[in-house]
Amino acid sequence: MPIHRVTLAKMARVFSGIQPSGDLHLGNLLGALMNWVNHQEEHEAVYCIVDLHALTLPQDPEELRTNTLELAQLLMAVGLNPERCTLFAQSHVPEHSQLAWLMECTVSYGELSRMTAFKDKSDRSDFISAGLFTYPALQAADILLYDTDLVPVGDDQRQHLEITRDIAERFNSRFGETFVVPQHVIPAAGARVMDLQHPERKMSKSQDSVNGTINVLEPPDSIRKKIKRAVTDSDGEVRFDFAKKAGVSNLLSILGAATGTDPNKVAESFDRYGDLKTATADAAIELLLPIQQRFAELQADPSETRRLLKVGAEKAQEVASQTLNRAKQNCGLLEA
Ligand code: TYM
Repeated sequence: MPIHRVTLAKMARVFSGIQPSGDLHLGNLLGALMNWVNHQEEHEAVYCIVDLHALTLPQDPEELRTNTLELAQLLMAVGLNPERCTLFAQSHVPEHSQLAWLMECTVSYGELSRMTAFKDKSDRSDFISAGLFTYPALQAADILLYDTDLVPVGDDQRQHLEITRDIAERFNSRFGETFVVPQHVIPAAGARVMDLQHPERKMSKSQDSVNGTINVLEPPDSIRKKIKRAVTDSDGEVRFDFAKKAGVSNLLSILGAATGTDPNKVAESFDRYGDLKTATADAAIELLLPIQQRFAELQADPSETRRLLKVGAEKAQEVASQTLNRAKQNCGLLEA
């Protein structure tokens, strides 16, 4: 009989990714990144800048490189600490594209055709790459490579998570237990930050709505102006009701997410739209200013950021290579 019996519960592993497609906006921050920061304190957290996914739409090579480096600096400015989490660029860990091929051979054409993100993006693009169509297979590879339990994302990633689970289950049932089937984690407030000018659609870098989007690096004056001009409605009642009052509800959910308060509760504190707008602008500025200051400091030393990304990629690869080998073996590829 052992003298000491120590039971160590396995720490849940968290994985998530973000595209280096230009500026980071308030939706990314409230819908996903604030949660990423919290998870690194409690779980084993792995975060990836998905530069290969960015290639699914046309990119300027120099801009992509700059955006990738700056996104790493922004993520650290938001609070990711490379000593507490693994932070890396997707293209630095070749296992992602290798497992993606196995995922492409596990998902069907029909399933990929039903992805709403593909429909949206292909409607807006002249050149529709094959990579844009198979995008969810690469995303499934990202997640499954790390035996991920939890995936913190905004609401728009729901369908991508569902297809990831389907792919994992199908692979497991065909070839035996290979992958952990992950769960998504979507925040109660901030999961869908909407465009300030078109509150029926999500705030997005790709929508080209300058006045509807607040960037994380936006100066305070501009934040205040945009929130002041945000579309509301004419009934004058401050109430959280996305179906009937999208503009007002969006402001309530931004203020709620920025201050960690339920948007319904936030609504009780205001009688007038003007006051709600002032408080929302104040909260956004208070949240973003320290991030902007840290970003300016980090920007001064790009070689340190590159070093940290390299360390992150090495840590990530240790786990990723084991999962890829398991998957290759289980599906019948001959060992080299
Ligand atoms: P991306 O780069 O579009 O967005 C990064 C994260 O921000 C969230 N988000 C929002 N949340 C609330 N309101 C909004 N308006 C808003 N806009 C964006 C997104 O939900 C996301 O969590 N396909 C992914 C990247 C990806 C990924 C992964 C994510 C690749 N592999 C593996 C998770 C796990 C994407 O394009 O996110």
